[in-house]
Amino acid sequence: MSQEAIYLPSPEFVSQANVKGMEGYRALYQQALDDPEKFWGNLAETELHWFQKFDKVLDWSEAPFAKWFVGGKTNVCYNCVDRHLNTDRKNKAAIIFEGEPGDQRVITYQELHRLVSRFANVLKGRGLQAGDRSIIYMPMIPEAAIAMLACARIGVIHSVVFGGFSAEALKTRIQDLNAQVVITADGGWRRAKEVRLKDAVDEAVKDCPSVANVIVYKRTGSAVPMDPHRDHWWHDLDEGVSEDCPAVPLDSEHPLYVLYTSGTTGKPKGILHTTAGYLLQAAMTVKWVFDMKEQDTYWCSADIGWVTGHSYIVYGPLAVGATNIMYEGAPDTPAFDRWWRIIDKYKVSIFYTSPTAIRALIRQGDHWPKAHNLASLRLLGSVGEPINPAAWEWYHSVIGKNRCPIVDTWWQTETGAIMIAPMPGAVPLKPGSGTLPMPGVVPEIVDLKGNPVPDGNEGYMILHKPWPSMLRTLWGDPDRYKEAYWSKLEGIYFTGDAARRDKDGYYWILGRVDDVMNVSGHRLSTMEVESALVRHPHVAEAAVVGKPHEITGQAVCCFVTLKKGVDQKHDELGKELRQWVAHEIGAFARPEEIRFTDVLPKTRSGKIMRRLLREIVTSNTVGGDVTTLEDMSVLTRLASQNDED
Ligand code: PRX
Repeated sequence: MSQEAIYLPSPEFVSQANVKGMEGYRALYQQALDDPEKFWGNLAETELHWFQKFDKVLDWSEAPFAKWFVGGKTNVCYNCVDRHLNTDRKNKAAIIFEGEPGDQRVITYQELHRLVSRFANVLKGRGLQAGDRSIIYMPMIPEAAIAMLACARIGVIHSVVFGGFSAEALKTRIQDLNAQVVITADGGWRRAKEVRLKDAVDEAVKDCPSVANVIVYKRTGSAVPMDPHRDHWWHDLDEGVSEDCPAVPLDSEHPLYVLYTSGTTGKPKGILHTTAGYLLQAAMTVKWVFDMKEQDTYWCSADIGWVTGHSYIVYGPLAVGATNIMYEGAPDTPAFDRWWRIIDKYKVSIFYTSPTAIRALIRQGDHWPKAHNLASLRLLGSVGEPINPAAWEWYHSVIGKNRCPIVDTWWQTETGAIMIAPMPGAVPLKPGSGTLPMPGVVPEIVDLKGNPVPDGNEGYMILHKPWPSMLRTLWGDPDRYKEAYWSKLEGIYFTGDAARRDKDGYYWILGRVDDVMNVSGHRLSTMEVESALVRHPHVAEAAVVGKPHEITGQAVCCFVTLKKGVDQKHDELGKELRQWVAHEIGAFARPEEIRFTDVLPKTRSGKIMRRLLREIVTSNTVGGDVTTLEDMSVLTRLASQNDED
């Protein structure tokens, strides 16, 4: 082992862990490496319920289009709900919900079954059937999970759109999917204000002729216009509906959901996940990484609109019969101790959150967590972005009281499940490293030609083998799927991340190597923000780069040239453009900074030199090779200019 800080799992943790000690981890990893099909095939048989058993574990003959558990029939909702009902979990809490205003609900597995079955019948009543598409645009309330599970129950492919996305972003997703139904709410609570979701839906569906039904859950009770032909209250449709709705046996490869995420162009990619392989790997990683036990109270603070919410609030934890906390609102409402209050109140034992949230809470001071009893915690998790060692140490000592291992989990919307993370009762931790790969995951760090780089050197991270929860394609765009992931190095999955492996085999993720920013753990493409900016009537050209940010990891920084004759004051226009981007994409994409410039640095062939802009925002100086620049003077001007906004 190297000289960095290393945290060994305590003997008490190891003795109760699902995977015990490095021997336990190594044995599992080796089994999966030696015979992946046997490994996953055995797990699929023992961990999932099958209506009809599969006859082949993996069909990779049409790579990169994988088929897992070929010929099998199962149902994700059945696995997450019904199969627990004949066990001691029947009356166990599946979801413990706390609304931002303080309202509470406890939903047992039996009750979840009732609610999901009813809502699946509501969907059937609207004419929906297997293969149809639904959009779920909801606050963080149990009905978001209920809607997902109801869709899965009858084979309707869902696409959850994060409630922070704007009407415009919602519209493009509905259109791309040709969704028949939108499931939403009047609004949700965030920072004591109502986020009016139905208004955004109304604006979006104006241009979405495919949407025949909008189903609206009443959450806030505020007035919303209802179109009598299209809009229905959830509670009206639910009245008198049957509670009997058997889960439909679906093919292992039946599409479960599409989740849009940013790529390197202006158009988000519709990541498609399917049924059996996705569920199996989500469930196994809950056992391996979160060390889930029957008596745990588990809380993942992500929003259900991101992949973390799909795999680690809904599908993974429910598949293993866990108790999930779900909280609707903001961590600072009514005060900065809301999360610690929730952990204390419900005696949360496993807590999974993002480095951005940790950094933001550090800033508020230790007295907030110290005012609460956090003794119930036994394991902490981190996801979405690299966690800096200082934040890691704080999380470990102030929240975990030096008792709780931290699982730093590296994965992507595309991978469906955690790929690199410590098994907490096995793997010694190094702050800032995701440590070692999960069984069945074979990463490598390579150069641009695909040659492995020596340990300790930076390179591109690739994944060698297909895995059960991998994305299957991009919705409606198989060519882009091949191009984006499998063509940089022919036939090998390209993660888009830079990383290095140290001499102990530990992975250190350094960040994206493409034009994708990571803002508060949310993926955002520079092109998406640029396209939004140039839709503004005053903007001629825009170049967007991620700028290092103390709390959010990166912040959006925009360089903008204006059309001739625009004479609006820069500070005013800067504000307007930031608001514009929030309106076009969503508030989370609001740029931190707009810099106005007469001309952008370009190569002779007209490509914007983002590398130079990145240097400008990072260090305010420019080094490196600038010989291909068209107009060198541009650089000095941009570098010396202060934020005009
Ligand atoms: O750059 C990596 C970063 O987030 C990207 C995936 O983003 P997304 O699909 O939105 O999924 C986020 C939640 C899984 C990755 O390519 N990333 C994610 N987790 C980590 C991370 N970077 C460093 N450490 C992590 N633990």
